[in-house]
Amino acid sequence: MQKLIEYRYQKALHHQLMKAADLSMLGSDVLVLIYHFAKVAEGDILEIGSFVGGSTIAAGMGARDSGRQKKIISIEPGGRLKDHRLATRDIFKDLKKNLSRVGLLEAVTLINGFSFDDSTITAVREMARPGAIGLFIFDADANVRRDIDCYGDRLAHGCWVVIDDYISATDKGGPTRAQVDELVGAGRLQPLGFYGWGTWIGRWIIG
Ligand SMILES: C[S@@+](CC[C@H](N)C(=O)[O-])C[C@H]1O[C@@H](n2cnc3c(N)ncnc32)[C@H](O)[C@@H]1O
Repeated sequence: MQKLIEYRYQKALHHQLMKAADLSMLGSDVLVLIYHFAKVAEGDILEIGSFVGGSTIAAGMGARDSGRQKKIISIEPGGRLKDHRLATRDIFKDLKKNLSRVGLLEAVTLINGFSFDDSTITAVREMARPGAIGLFIFDADANVRRDIDCYGDRLAHGCWVVIDDYISATDKGGPTRAQVDELVGAGRLQPLGFYGWGTWIGRWIIG
């Protein structure tokens, strides 16, 4: 927590993170946490649901500031979004444009597809060896369990886990909460807390 407060006083960093927050559906404190985890985590980063890149940029900045080589894999099918503060006609095009603007396009391996597509699963499993992921960000649909079942063997013991919509006004909230609570009950996830507007943060435990 001390570190997170310190980031606020690093003017340039704080400014860049708040610019990422302008592109994000996540709360700004969650983006600061993503930045921090990407910086301190041992291992690579897997993100599911990048949208136009707010969380991807926060992760990319953290990985860059870690001074270590980290793979960042981010999965986004694209499409359009209407009637929203962040409305866009082409999510994937804007994602690439936003990453490019902050010099992170080359640092992120973007997969243009759904997390459950066979081609996505093959690509992720080729890029990330078992236990290689140190930060897992899920901000997609209401089925985090599906993706944990699919990619869980790629997560390291103690991998930082960020799952949005644990508490939500949308219909993602109920299933997400039930799935996360079940994984906590089974001892696979260890909670740290809730941040922003209902984002669950914790760690992956290999029993
Ligand atoms: C709430 S937005 C993500 C917001 C983003 N993390 C941010 O910082 O603003 C959810 C995104 O997940 C994508 N999505 C939905 N289901 C998905 C899946 N199964 N695999 C990958 N992305 C998915 C949607 O296209 C959408 O862009």
